[in-house]
Amino acid sequence: MTAQAMIVAGVMSGTSADGIDVALVRIAPGKSRPKVTLLAHEGFAYSGALRRSVLAAMNAASVPTGELARLNWRLGTAYAEAVKETRRRHRVKLDLIGCHGQTLYHQARAMSFAGRRFACTWQAGEAAVIAAALGVPVVSNFRPADMLAGGQGAPLVPLLDYVLFADAERGRVLQNIGGIANLTAIPPGAGIDRVIAFDTGPGNMVIDALAQELFGQSFDRGGAIAARGTILKPVLASGMRNSYYRLKPPRTAGREQFGREYAALFLAACRRITRKPEDALATATALTAESIAGAYRKFVAARMKSGRVDYIVSGGGAKNETLMSMLAERLEPFGCALSAIDEFGIPASAKEAAAFALLAWQTWHRRPGNIPSATGASRPAILGQVTYA
Ligand SMILES: Nc1ncnc2c1ncn2[C@@H]1O[C@H](COP(=O)(O)OP(=O)(O)O)[C@@H](O)[C@H]1O
Ligand SMILES: [Mg+2]
Repeated sequence: MTAQAMIVAGVMSGTSADGIDVALVRIAPGKSRPKVTLLAHEGFAYSGALRRSVLAAMNAASVPTGELARLNWRLGTAYAEAVKETRRRHRVKLDLIGCHGQTLYHQARAMSFAGRRFACTWQAGEAAVIAAALGVPVVSNFRPADMLAGGQGAPLVPLLDYVLFADAERGRVLQNIGGIANLTAIPPGAGIDRVIAFDTGPGNMVIDALAQELFGQSFDRGGAIAARGTILKPVLASGMRNSYYRLKPPRTAGREQFGREYAALFLAACRRITRKPEDALATATALTAESIAGAYRKFVAARMKSGRVDYIVSGGGAKNETLMSMLAERLEPFGCALSAIDEFGIPASAKEAAAFALLAWQTWHRRPGNIPSATGASRPAILGQVTYA
């Protein structure tokens, strides 16, 4: 199929369950890689009621089937409204939509069920609702095809990272800090088969849980609370002994590892040492910074060759100044220059959404979207399914 230039809306909602990011992207065929131009980005917070039901359904032990079906449909309407509003504000004619959906369950490792062993994943948000509301075809359900090729189904953002940031001279790391934090590392001059990508560990997830529990806020704006606190060294040290950090990539994390139960244990450990709630937030913030820097040191540094590395941060965590300065301090010794992706002309909250626009464009043209070295898949796979309008 000959590739066409298209205007694609990428729609992302991550494990933070904070809301929906929509990126409008122009994608055109190029010589060695597609040309990707970000036209606009809009963010939409979930309503309180929708956020509560998403959080209740994520990795929950028991939710009524009817409620899951309604949530799947309701998310479809939320995505449709977000894309419609974005289209209205920017007056574009959309050719295609790529919608990641809301992950309700992700099991990267094979487990036995009804006599068979398999890995599985589920991103909710009915694509037919979106296609019908917009009159535009929708690509959704991106992760299963990679898992069936032997991959973990994640991360899928590295293709965009490579297309936008691969550089002949500079080593580059694209660090996203959403609910979970993940990185894509591209050594200087590397081909796509040498891209390294994996989840480093918690991003904002533990910070958000403690901000909610201790301060009644859904997150620590600007990192202001953590900035007033003191890092509790013993809690940080024991947090860093978590077995997840010893897993070799490819590896993925989610609420299964760093969700409610984890945050409750972490907070209990803080309370054994201090009564100051801001110290718990400072320590949770340091845990994110330390686990990111530790992952870079262990699995990436040796492969980046010598010279300075651009360490480019995206996701909501890029707006947490305390986290950013803790990170800069820990990465500096490895020759990494930290910056927010905004300095490269891409808003921090737009990148992951833009990635799903590119992945949709790939699928539309029957081209693969996963990077096997990132997900652990045995082969490239065409991702997702198309719902026609
Ligand atoms: N101004 C801010 N200051 C500090 N943290 C922020 C700010 N804005 C967003 N965040 C953090 O980013 C999170 C959302 O990041 P996002 O990249 O959307 O993650 P996800 O992909 O998991 O939805 C919020 O839950 C919050 O913790
Ligand atoms: Mg989000």
